[in-house]
Amino acid sequence: MTKKITVRTLKKMKESGEKFSVLTAYDYSTAKYLDEAGIDVLLIGDSLAMVALGYDNTNCIGIEEMSIFTKAVSKGVERAMVVTDMPFMSYTIDISSALQNIGNMIKLGANAVKLEGCNDYIIELVKRCTQMGVPVMGHLGFTPQSQNVIGGHLIQGKTLDATLQILKQAKKLEEAGAFSIVLEMVPEESAKYITENLTIPTISCGAGFYCDAQVVVSDDLFGKFDSFKPKFARKYGDMKDLILSCAKQYNEDVKTGKFPNAEEIYKLSDEDARELEKYIKEQKNVITCN
Ligand code: KIV
Repeated sequence: MTKKITVRTLKKMKESGEKFSVLTAYDYSTAKYLDEAGIDVLLIGDSLAMVALGYDNTNCIGIEEMSIFTKAVSKGVERAMVVTDMPFMSYTIDISSALQNIGNMIKLGANAVKLEGCNDYIIELVKRCTQMGVPVMGHLGFTPQSQNVIGGHLIQGKTLDATLQILKQAKKLEEAGAFSIVLEMVPEESAKYITENLTIPTISCGAGFYCDAQVVVSDDLFGKFDSFKPKFARKYGDMKDLILSCAKQYNEDVKTGKFPNAEEIYKLSDEDARELEKYIKEQKNVITCN
């Protein structure tokens, strides 16, 4: 029986200086393979809005869609911790509806949720979630759900003041009970300082080497999504090429009669085949006589 990754495992890993891996996952079979590969945390990121559903940005996805993917990923995983990204406006209207939406994700199989930002409301929500038994992953630096207020995909924490501001927010999240914090698009030196001053792990999303963990959108890692590639997302494969070459070969094989072959079909028993042949002949005779 594989030992499940929990908030305790991740805290201990930070304490011993052992890094952990986080990847996004959106469907059952990919989640199963990422779990088998030893990825420690699988995040059903709202990035799925763009990479799996073709929306223009991550704010287009709703709680119903996130629920479907949360259920699928959770079913594929034994060891990894499963974290669901709470989508835009699903946790910011009021505490009561937020807790309801968050609770539903846990009922569908998630082990924790991710919430973006830090203000008095978010701090209160993190406290309430933690009290109610829901671990929260924070998300600071560039927070995509606020991209319209920020004014684009911009690096955050670029000055000493801005770095200290992120650290202050991170400490508030830590005190409220968050078990980890994603730092997105933060300069490496700033992320290092923030990481060294927290007891909970930081997860880099374009925040350099010194965070306690790294997260990448899996479609970027696999070379599947080609609309754009963030500077920090290393491509480990070329799934787009693989999909194109499989689909082109299949298309050609269907059209030239090479698919399916004798091993890829079901056959009637000799007796049933004879019976069918006889029936067809009789039908033809009937049609001819008429
Ligand atoms: O939506 C997402 O995939 C994310 C991570 C990349 C941090 O939030």
